[in-house]
Amino acid sequence: MTHIASWRSPSNIALVKYWGKHGLQLPNNPSLSFTLSECYTDMTLRVITGSSTPQLTILYDGNERPAFEPKIKSFFNRISDTLPWLTEASIVIDSLNTFPHGAGIASSASSMSALALCLDDIDRQINAITNPLNHTQNLDRISELARLGSGSACRSVFPVAALWGEVSGVKSSHDRYAIPWAEHVANIFKDYQDTILVVSKAEKAVSSTIGHELMSGHVNEESRYVQARQNLLTLIESLKSEKALDVFISVCESEALQLHALMMSGKRPFLLIEPGTIAIIKEVWTFRQDTGIPVCFTLDAGPNVHLLYPASFKGSVLDWIKTNLIRHCADGLFITDEVGSGPQKL
Ligand code: DP6
Repeated sequence: MTHIASWRSPSNIALVKYWGKHGLQLPNNPSLSFTLSECYTDMTLRVITGSSTPQLTILYDGNERPAFEPKIKSFFNRISDTLPWLTEASIVIDSLNTFPHGAGIASSASSMSALALCLDDIDRQINAITNPLNHTQNLDRISELARLGSGSACRSVFPVAALWGEVSGVKSSHDRYAIPWAEHVANIFKDYQDTILVVSKAEKAVSSTIGHELMSGHVNEESRYVQARQNLLTLIESLKSEKALDVFISVCESEALQLHALMMSGKRPFLLIEPGTIAIIKEVWTFRQDTGIPVCFTLDAGPNVHLLYPASFKGSVLDWIKTNLIRHCADGLFITDEVGSGPQKL
């Protein structure tokens, strides 16, 4: 029997970072992210169940991409207990990202969450035949599936913001899946802007997977996890009101710099920021001081800078980017994104 599912799923940007994991993709500290709007993956999954010669075909924009096969196969092996039909299925995955390839924006969060949503959709189609009552969408389960594909992907399935990892005092928080956090953030954050300044389009020298591994035995390992937990609690408080933007800003910037400081200070040091990254950070600090506009930065595991600011300052910030910052961007590339409403069935 043939089943088809299509989903759109966004990327996300962590404010408190997941960096270091154990077991099967379990985080060493909790993290909290904003869900993005314009950077997303559209995916269609076609599954023929009960196939005697199971095959996996991976397409990107209609063209075969065998290089993605090992990662997808190991993901399918991890989840075959939950979705037993996977072992006897011929599968075609076709996806397309809105953000340009090589823009340094991690596609694993959007693509792995899109894949988890498609797999769950098909599982519900299959189960509806045998158990018509048990086919409602279950975001905990989808988030958990996404986590097994890529840790940060588990946060992409929720609108506005998501919290992943156990936090004392937050009852429903869990290491196995993310939980929705939209209800706990003030209105100002619900359309917060994220303008991504693409400093370099080059392939990352060190992958996130290796970066996570290098946290094990890092001289600052324990203190990092203590500090991440403290930063998370401070961030949660600051998100409740638009009056604590100064606290929000200091947590975001401290987390971004700490992530890169950890990379630079491990047993095998590495450096992902570029001179343009530092130049932009200094410009942000001067601009904020001079204008009082509450723009701040965060960084992913790469050189590109995410500028975060309230939507009411969009005009002034974009003008300033065009006059002062665009010269630090590769081919003048920047992406205007904002906090978004989560995945969508296509
Ligand atoms: C710096 O989720 O890409 O973006 O679980 O190995 O797939 P894997 O790693 P990944 O790591 C993301 C690291 C980060 C911080 C974050 O998104 O929290």
